[in-house]
Amino acid sequence: MRLSVIGCGYLGAVHAAAMASIGHEVVGIDVDAEKVGALSRGEAPFFEPGLQDILTEGVASGRLSFTTDMSEAAGAAVHFIGVGTPQQADGYAADLTYVRAAVAALVPHLRPGDVVAGKSTVPVGTAAELSEQITPTGAVLVWNPEFLREGWAVKDTVDPDRLVVGVPAGGAGEAAAQTLREVFHPAVAKGTPFIVTDYATAELVKVSANAFLATKISFINAMAEIAEATGADVTQLADAIGHDERIGRKFLGAGIGFGGGCLPKDIRAFSARAEELGRRESVNFLREVDAINLRRRDRAAQLVVDALDDRPHGRRVAVLGAAFKPHSDDVRDSPALDVAVRLHGLGADVVVTDPQAIGNARKVHPHLTYSADLDDALRDAEAVLIVTEWDEYRRHLTPEHAASLARGRTVIDARNCLDPARWRAAGWSYRGMGRP
Ligand code: UGA
Repeated sequence: MRLSVIGCGYLGAVHAAAMASIGHEVVGIDVDAEKVGALSRGEAPFFEPGLQDILTEGVASGRLSFTTDMSEAAGAAVHFIGVGTPQQADGYAADLTYVRAAVAALVPHLRPGDVVAGKSTVPVGTAAELSEQITPTGAVLVWNPEFLREGWAVKDTVDPDRLVVGVPAGGAGEAAAQTLREVFHPAVAKGTPFIVTDYATAELVKVSANAFLATKISFINAMAEIAEATGADVTQLADAIGHDERIGRKFLGAGIGFGGGCLPKDIRAFSARAEELGRRESVNFLREVDAINLRRRDRAAQLVVDALDDRPHGRRVAVLGAAFKPHSDDVRDSPALDVAVRLHGLGADVVVTDPQAIGNARKVHPHLTYSADLDDALRDAEAVLIVTEWDEYRRHLTPEHAASLARGRTVIDARNCLDPARWRAAGWSYRGMGRP
């Protein structure tokens, strides 16, 4: 099928390349000429495992192209909208400027029978509003939220755990859902749940899924706070409650909490939308989820200050990690980088290292010191702080090697990803989050 993908950021670039990889002819469209240039040369503009391969392959096959020219969307059977919906600069609500601009630019190129499939995360009610512009062209708008995780984005796009499509009532909606079944043919053929619903439900599935995940993380981080007050161990607690299938162990990793381009802004946008709907109290707990999450960053910074006997000024701290999670170079609302910035603000001599995210980190916080080399970052450090659980730190860094470089013997494991017994046995003072 011929497809267009409007917006070539994390979501759109992966979607375009993934759709080409399953045999479609895809044009990716973005207003950023530099990004389009890189993608057209087959260069992934960000680090995402597996993306480079399918991009190279797609561009070489001639099935995948990129442009800044919206008129090239004409002729595609399905137009995916994957532009960003960031948090507004002056509030909690989502900024829909890019979604509205994409739809306005696309409308003149639509033909009757085309399907426009919104993928961006939007406040409930947005699809109904946008359909008023799209329906008069004879095209049909559906909402097809995306559940991909950074680091697993290619797999999640080609082989998702469910597909959700919000359609308008009637025959046109049913036909559009059928078109999407054809688009996602490999997943549909293997029996992936395919849920056809209305616009509002589809929009809400997305935000409620992210709200649930954020709540789960903040729940365990709240338990970490209680563990800290009682001497209990939150990781054992998580293991024990996680054995209950109704609870499950996933997303019960206590540490410095969630960040990234999705969870934080999505729960805030959800609160803002609920308030507009007169249902603020229904999601009031999300404000608490947000507050717990941010408190854990303070806690990690405080553990470092404690390790430096309350005198952080001028003291060397190795900060291991800048990305908001491993397998990503994304530093948007990164808890890791936020803790580094706090310590720098307290006067510590912070050196940040990360296997992938230093370039992006430097763009947002040019005043911090960075080193791509882990050994360099560890050299002469008085405290070692782990804030992103990359395998490089979790599995490969040994306490003996760290001790051969660092001056101090305190490790603060803000992601609870190390084996405390092993580090203690090697002479380190180990501090975790919610662990004795
Ligand atoms: C999240 C959702 O997991 C995806 O399903 C969704 O599609 C995506 O947002 C989106 O809306 O686009 P992502 O932002 O890639 O995906 O990252 P997650 O894997 O959800 O992790 C989010 C944050 O939570 C990270 O900072 C991670 O370190 C943190 N986290 C995760 C914890 O602190 N503890 C855990 O147990 C799990």
